[in-house]
Amino acid sequence: MQPLLKEMHSWMDAYMKTFHTDDEEVMLGIRIKETHTGYVTSIARELAKHLELNAHDMQLAEIMGLFHDVGRFRQYSLYQTFNDSQSEDHADLGLKVLDELDLMKRLAPEDEALVRFAIKNHNKKVIEPTDSKRKLLFARLLRDADKLDIYRVLTPYLDNEDAMMPKFVKNTGEHLVSEGFVKDFAEGNQVDYYRITTQGDRVLVRLMWVYDINFAWTLKKVVEKGYVDAVVAHLPVKEQPELKPGFDRMYKYIEEKCKTKDAADIY
Ligand SMILES: [Fe+2]
Repeated sequence: MQPLLKEMHSWMDAYMKTFHTDDEEVMLGIRIKETHTGYVTSIARELAKHLELNAHDMQLAEIMGLFHDVGRFRQYSLYQTFNDSQSEDHADLGLKVLDELDLMKRLAPEDEALVRFAIKNHNKKVIEPTDSKRKLLFARLLRDADKLDIYRVLTPYLDNEDAMMPKFVKNTGEHLVSEGFVKDFAEGNQVDYYRITTQGDRVLVRLMWVYDINFAWTLKKVVEKGYVDAVVAHLPVKEQPELKPGFDRMYKYIEEKCKTKDAADIY
């Protein structure tokens, strides 16, 4: 499969370049997606190696990383936004792009189905139910690779309220965390983005992703790279002592999860 993987890399590089423009603002977004694609591709491969996947499966993981956001480019050219709720789901759109790609047909049918399943589920709230251990493993792997890099992308924007703000949220300028979020955080729940009402909520959501990370390997990296500390530093910790139970739960969870041993369990 190695030559096919090389061809896929060349195709993706050329495809992303077709979206280059003289408009600097557009290029800023395109560059972020290009860099993100590169990082997620290498993280997916690294994680696959950590999980001791065989050479064939490591290449599949790499293909998933490479193509996971292919829909982002068509999304921007069609709708001038990266916001799924204002356009369409970028993972589903990515599958349409891959439908038109002959290179995908050169994968074995079961491999193609696996790649498509992982990409489709990389950005959904939860992974759709499946009986296939392989599908579940690769979907979990790709979600982790994507999240780890999203922390890198978003960390510099923690100070920038507007960049952190989903477009459907009206900026109230309130920096405290709202009551409902304090409660969800204390209970370790995931929250609906639609319930975000303050800057504090927006920051806290980044911390709640910790509970959606699948492998100890990924969580350790998130902690080591300082992403958790950076988010915590942007929360009104002193002003809102009621956040403490949430922090206690989270740090305990991180400690326990990092002690667990990752295993692929598919061979
Ligand atoms: Fe994505």
